[in-house]
Amino acid sequence: MRTAKSAMSDLVKHSRRCVQVACLLLLAAFTSAAAAPAIVAACKSCHAEDGTGVGKTVVPIIAGMPAVHIEEALYAYKDGARQCLEEPVMCDTTQLLTDENIADLAAHYAAIPRPSLDETVDDALAALGEPVHRKLCARCHLPPDDPDVADVLGPPLHGQRADYLRYALESYLSGTRENLLDEMKEKISLLDEGDVEALANYYGSYRPDGP
Ligand code: HEC
Ligand code: HEC
Repeated sequence: MRTAKSAMSDLVKHSRRCVQVACLLLLAAFTSAAAAPAIVAACKSCHAEDGTGVGKTVVPIIAGMPAVHIEEALYAYKDGARQCLEEPVMCDTTQLLTDENIADLAAHYAAIPRPSLDETVDDALAALGEPVHRKLCARCHLPPDDPDVADVLGPPLHGQRADYLRYALESYLSGTRENLLDEMKEKISLLDEGDVEALANYYGSYRPDGP
């Protein structure tokens, strides 16, 4: 099986060889904001072409994340502000992306609605998570279908895989993942024992098509 990395370096090598007009036109078609830009080949081994992921705990769902948040994340990985703790290939891949690739990928994944998760949720824990979210997190994290979701600072967490949320929150709490914002760091530090589970169940209980 071709890895995402080899697909990516093929594309890069290929583009270096492209000096003729016909080839440039082909590349322009590749990188235009068409339904699935060819560069998605570099992402789909982990995120799948539709952004729902291939089932690995540490891989987030990126379908339905506003383009601005996808771009911010990709630039943060590219310049090293955000590290790839478990899958270094994710960060290596971003090193090769052009600004145009980043814009195309963000448009592609943002246009796919966040799917309804088929995870089992503990309703009692979800009910405990809701007020914690509202008090500490809602200012920066809105559901993907909220009209203001692209304007707040953080990416949508509603409908994110619970396992990924546990992994991300535990990484913040243990300090292996750095907070890029002091305000979020402060809010995370206010979480009590048990809040991680409550929040993971609360965000996981979100159903884009209703309850
Ligand atoms: C080898 C697997 C792998 C590949 C290939 C990969 N990713 Fe990722 N991606 C991950 C993992 C794992 C994370 C979470 C990393 C972390 O922060 O610990 C992630 C995080 C992200 C995030 C941040 C999401 C969030 O919720 O904040 C975005 C956006 C993203 N990837 C987009 C892409 C795009 C676009 C590509 C293709 C250019 C790509 N990824 C290639 C595994 C991968
Ligand atoms: C001041 C705004 C702000 C507040 C308040 C805030 N966050 Fe965040 N959050 C962000 C930003 C910006 C990011 C993306 C940058 C980063 O990785 O640090 C983020 C990222 C995250 C992520 C990782 C998302 C991903 O897909 O990788 C999780 C999980 C998270 N926040 C949970 C929380 C929780 C839980 C709270 C409340 C206790 C909270 N945040 C409060 C701004 C905020």
